[in-house]
Amino acid sequence: MIPAAGRGVRLGPGAPKALRALNGTPMLVHAVRAMAASRAVSVVVVVAPPDGAAEVKTLLTDHALPERTDVLVVPGGATRQESVRLGLDALPPGIDIVLVHDAARPLVPVDTVDGVIEAVRDGAPAVVPALPVTDTVKEVAPAAAESAPAGSAAPGAPEPVVATPDRSRLRAVQTPQGFDHATLLRAHEAVVVGDGATDDAGLVERLGEPVVLVPGHEEAFKVTRPLDLVLAEAVLARRRA
Ligand code: CTP
Ligand code: MG
Repeated sequence: MIPAAGRGVRLGPGAPKALRALNGTPMLVHAVRAMAASRAVSVVVVVAPPDGAAEVKTLLTDHALPERTDVLVVPGGATRQESVRLGLDALPPGIDIVLVHDAARPLVPVDTVDGVIEAVRDGAPAVVPALPVTDTVKEVAPAAAESAPAGSAAPGAPEPVVATPDRSRLRAVQTPQGFDHATLLRAHEAVVVGDGATDDAGLVERLGEPVVLVPGHEEAFKVTRPLDLVLAEAVLARRRA
């Protein structure tokens, strides 16, 4: 499942993020192709911007995808969590393993996708690709965190530091996150709306079920801010070279 219903506020004005072009092809098309590249993926459910489902359907029929892949498109919701929930409701019957993959990570290599699937097949109910953190991370007080939302580039008032977590124990997580279907459904059913979960594995953790990490990949980075578009286009150009 590919949640692609976000606006892309941090990317700046323009079309919804998933529809922005990378080297001439919409980010969402790259993301669908990246998932469909795995032979284990039989169905891709795209969760489109709420008013853009028809446009996304046309887009995906116009771009070549492997024949073995069925693509469904459903409209998304106001938050990522809601969009994933709507995608789950649209899954056809008989699916044992669900991968949830951000449209905003269009360049994830197929080996990363297959690695996640393999770990779920080996019995882990929730699997997350992750990389070591390269920046040292500081924790700030809740009031400071609210006044400067994560990712805001605007300089604000100085923020008091409350802690520095040991970097060697931190990991930055990516997608696709892979799940036993029944576990992911239970996690989303148990959710308290508006509790601020930023990934699906976090919901599974709250159930008390084990979540494991497997190696992520640098090229699975999330296109979030304008500089990420430059990086993504450079990666694509290098692949073609
Ligand atoms: N997403 C979604 N529905 C939402 C919000 C986000 O399907 N209501 C999807 C995005 O389309 C994206 C993924 O969740 O593929 C990760 O979210 P993020 O990178 O935060 O994208 P946006 O929410 O679009 O960006 P921003 O937060 O800058 O507005
Ligand atoms: Mg967002």
